[in-house]
Amino acid sequence: MSLEISDTTDGVDWAALKDALRLDDFDNGRTPDQYRVSHERSHAVVFARDDGGYVANGRILSDGVCNAYLVDIWVATRLRRRGLGGEIVRRLLATVPGQHVALLTAERTEFYESLGFGIEREALSLVNGEWLNPSATR
Ligand SMILES: CC(C)(COP(=O)(O)OP(=O)(O)OC[C@H]1O[C@@H](n2cnc3c(N)ncnc32)[C@H](O)[C@@H]1OP(=O)(O)O)[C@@H](O)C(=O)NCCC(=O)NCCS
Repeated sequence: MSLEISDTTDGVDWAALKDALRLDDFDNGRTPDQYRVSHERSHAVVFARDDGGYVANGRILSDGVCNAYLVDIWVATRLRRRGLGGEIVRRLLATVPGQHVALLTAERTEFYESLGFGIEREALSLVNGEWLNPSATR
């Protein structure tokens, strides 16, 4: 298998990536264009492709000083438990040295614990109005 890992949004086929996510049952409703904007406005991104198309991605938000947030971490079901998820997250963490990195998930906490994350029980969050901002494009 030839795996190509990139850290740029240049050349990403957003429709193909969203198709891959949908077919793998990991889709939270963004259109390809909304997914593009989410990634273009992130601090760092990682995408992985093999001969069959997109197989993993991830992104991290950051203020560049002290706070960062991991989002949209995905590895295709057929390639899980081979270290690819760890590689994606380590590449993203390398872009935010010295920062407090958070994420909100109830899924796969063992995976994040294997990378050094600890559970914080006092997290608070809200969805500000209706989920997704339809005017968020550029
Ligand atoms: C979570 C996810 C990204 C992990 O990707 P991955 O490529 O399988 O992860 P890795 O192979 O790097 O796993 C590293 C370690 O994490 C732990 N781990 C990963 N998946 C696990 C699972 N399903 N159950 C228990 N431990 C797990 C293990 O310790 C693993 O090491 P090991 O395989 O040597 O035992 C992948 O399962 C995924 O995309 N899941 C669906 C999307 C999702 O839930 N994302 C997280 C919420 S945003």
